[in-house]
Amino acid sequence: MKGVILAGGTGSRLRPITHTGPKQLVPVANKPVVEYALDDLVEAGIDEIGIVLGDKGREAIQAYFGDGSEFGVDITYIVQGEPLGLAHAVGCAREFVGDEPFVVYLGDDLMRDGITDLVGDFDPDKYAAGIGVQAVDEPSRYGIVDIDESGDVVGLVEKPDDPPSDLALIGIYVFTPAIFEQIEALEPSWRGELEITEAIQGLLDDGARVQSHEVHGWWKDTGKPEDVLHANRLVLDAIETDIRGTVEDGANVRGRVQLGEGSVIEAGAVVRGPVSIGENTRIGPGAYVGPYTSIGDDSTVDDVHIESSVTMGENEITADRTVVDSLVGRKATIRPNTDRRPAGDQLVVGRNSSLEL
Ligand code: DAU
Repeated sequence: MKGVILAGGTGSRLRPITHTGPKQLVPVANKPVVEYALDDLVEAGIDEIGIVLGDKGREAIQAYFGDGSEFGVDITYIVQGEPLGLAHAVGCAREFVGDEPFVVYLGDDLMRDGITDLVGDFDPDKYAAGIGVQAVDEPSRYGIVDIDESGDVVGLVEKPDDPPSDLALIGIYVFTPAIFEQIEALEPSWRGELEITEAIQGLLDDGARVQSHEVHGWWKDTGKPEDVLHANRLVLDAIETDIRGTVEDGANVRGRVQLGEGSVIEAGAVVRGPVSIGENTRIGPGAYVGPYTSIGDDSTVDDVHIESSVTMGENEITADRTVVDSLVGRKATIRPNTDRRPAGDQLVVGRNSSLEL
């Protein structure tokens, strides 16, 4: 079976981070979100993977994965361009997938338990499609499904005002090529997109069966900053200690900590896991790095108290401040105002930035 990762879209809810790169490369515990999707496909035995790219940051995704050989897979890039909808993105992969069933994984989704069971359960002789589902608190934010007692899907609707159930489509789909005819027949929805939810409804309307597979481990869509921070907490909750850099004598480190190559936690610094620190990063003597924090590569962190946050890399964070629940983009700096003329916070803040001081 082949796998298709959808990594296009605009990432509008993650601005300003997505002004300069695709949302699928936002790091969670120092690994791009989309790499978790790739890992899950590999774990399910899928090593031929198509990545559907949008206009935004597609070179960055290609540069990160290359031809896939470093990751043990064979990657084909498929350019969707403008984000005309999930169904349009899947349609772009038609030639790549050919005549076999295939898996589609939304590139900004994270799942604790992977997709091996879901993929293994799918029976292409009985079903035209299979979908992963999970009960959610805010059904109107998702595609919602109605199922019968045997787990067969009886109806689907995208982001309904009046949800028929609380079971959401979690963004993992197994399709037979029958889906492509349905995609061809679609018209844009109220939000101007070709909806994969409607294509699956089309299969049902034509008398085909659609299987549901309830996923019990946590699942997270990382569409918004608070979702990235939540996903970071969920992933860090399960990390093991892995020290590849240097922890100096006199550094105060407790809990589970990952420290990348070339990084140093200097004497006097306090680190309370779970924490992930990337490569070539310096945690200085005045730093407190609290639980559920990921600090990116090539950074300096000193004099600051930072916790429950994600910094994406090439950062200098040295202001005498307490930073919590924050997402700090690549190359951003948070430094003290040493000059004090004029006194006060001096900000160079880009479009769509958000500061709560
Ligand atoms: O996260 C689960 C939800 O994902 C499902 O419950 C919904 O049924 C499904 O429509 C989808 O909703 P979202 O509104 O969250 O989808 P989003 O626009 O975030 O796109 C999901 C991924 O697909 C993301 O990695 C970007 C990519 N994408 C999106 C569009 C619209 C593309 O590659 N091309 C596109 O045209």
